[in-house]
Amino acid sequence: MSDRDPLNDLGFDGPASARVYDYSLGGKDNYGPDRSAASDALDAYSVAHLLPRENRKFMRRAVRYLLDAGVRQFVDLGCGLPGKGNVHDLAHGADPDAKVVYVDNDPVAVVHFQSLLHSVPGATAINADARHPDAILSHPELTALIDFDRPVGILMISMLDWIPDEDDPDTLVAAFREALSPGGHLVICDFLSDNLSEADRATHRELTERYGISLTFRSSERFKGFFDGLNLVEPGLVLAPEWRPDRPYDPPSGWLLAGVGRKP
Ligand SMILES: C[S@@+](CC[C@H](N)C(=O)[O-])C[C@H]1O[C@@H](n2cnc3c(N)ncnc32)[C@H](O)[C@@H]1O
Repeated sequence: MSDRDPLNDLGFDGPASARVYDYSLGGKDNYGPDRSAASDALDAYSVAHLLPRENRKFMRRAVRYLLDAGVRQFVDLGCGLPGKGNVHDLAHGADPDAKVVYVDNDPVAVVHFQSLLHSVPGATAINADARHPDAILSHPELTALIDFDRPVGILMISMLDWIPDEDDPDTLVAAFREALSPGGHLVICDFLSDNLSEADRATHRELTERYGISLTFRSSERFKGFFDGLNLVEPGLVLAPEWRPDRPYDPPSGWLLAGVGRKP
C-alpha cells in the first residue's frame, strides 16, 4: 500500500484517476496534470479512446439488468466523479425508492456526488477505501440505506485495477461477496492482461513511472476467482461490449473484461 493517504490527500499536485477518467469522458472536473496524463495515454495506445465508453456503457447495461432482476439497492465502489447516466439516475428512473451508496477514496469525487445528491432521497456518497470492506459495510450512512438481508448490487467498475496485488484484492472482493444475500449481484469490469502486447506493457511501465499512478491488468483466469461461489450471468466473463449488448457495437478494444455474478 502506498504512503499516500488518498482519503485526505486531494491529489491536486498530480493526476487523479477520477479526474483523468472524467477528462477522457469529456467531463469538466479535471485539471492540467489530469489532462496531460489522459492525453499521453490516449496518444500511446490506439485503443485507449474506446475504453471510457466501453466501461460506462457496460455499467449502464449491467445496472439495467439488475433492475430488471428486481435489485433495488446498489453500492458503487470506486464511483469516480458524477457523469451522465449515473447509477442513481438509472435506479431512480426505474424505482424512485431505490437506494444507492457511492463510495470512493478520492474526497473530490465524493464531494461532487454529495453536492449532486443533497436533495436526492435514497442516495448518498461516502469517502472510504475499498481495501477496508468492514469499515464500508458498517458505515452508518450505508447501513441507513442498504439492507444486506435483501438483494444488493455491488459494482466494481474500473476500480479493482487501482488495487495492486500486494493489497490483496481477492480478500476485499470476497468480503463484499460474502455480504450479499441470495439474489444479490457482484458486477466487475476491469483491465484484462490477456491481449496486451509486449509494446503495450513497455508503454504502461513508462507511463507508470512518469505519472506515478499504476494500473494492474489481470488475466481472465484471475477474474474468475473474483466470482467464486456466484453464478455468472449469461454470457459469462466477456469483453465489455460483448456483455448483453443492446445495439451493434464497434470492435471491442480487447482491454476490458466484464461480468456479473449472482449469489445463489
Ligand atoms: C476510472 S475511475 C472509475 C469510475 C466509475 N466506477 C466508472 O467506471 O465510471 C476509478 C475510481 O476508483 C477510485 N478508487 C481507486 N482506488 C480506490 C479504493 N481503494 N477505494 C475506493 N475507490 C478507489 C478512484 O478514486 C476513481 O474514482
